Amino acid sequence: MVPARHQSNSEIVGKIAAKEPFEVHLVDGKRYSWCRCGFSKKQPFCDGQHRRNAPGISPLRFRAENTGTVFLCGCKQTGNPPFCDGTHMSDKVQNAFID
Ligand code: FES
Repeated sequence: MVPARHQSNSEIVGKIAAKEPFEVHLVDGKRYSWCRCGFSKKQPFCDGQHRRNAPGISPLRFRAENTGTVFLCGCKQTGNPPFCDGTHMSDKVQNAFID
């Protein structure tokens, strides 16, 4: 796991974008914007869709502190954003309709 500094706000949850986390390769020192709203077409990262589809939600910006592979949340229900905490395995997520 690659620790990352980020502004945590686990009370904000977005639309379920995926029922599994996204395995991504992060680079030490590089900044990322994790999509919190669930509307991005470039999951798990923000593509600006929140401005139109979820004006009250902004992306979680963070800087990777190591280079390596991590699992970023795709269901947007995690209690440890931007990382997967296993919440996607809940009935709420697994039974959800994804458009
Ligand atoms: S597109 Fe989802 S937070 Fe920006």
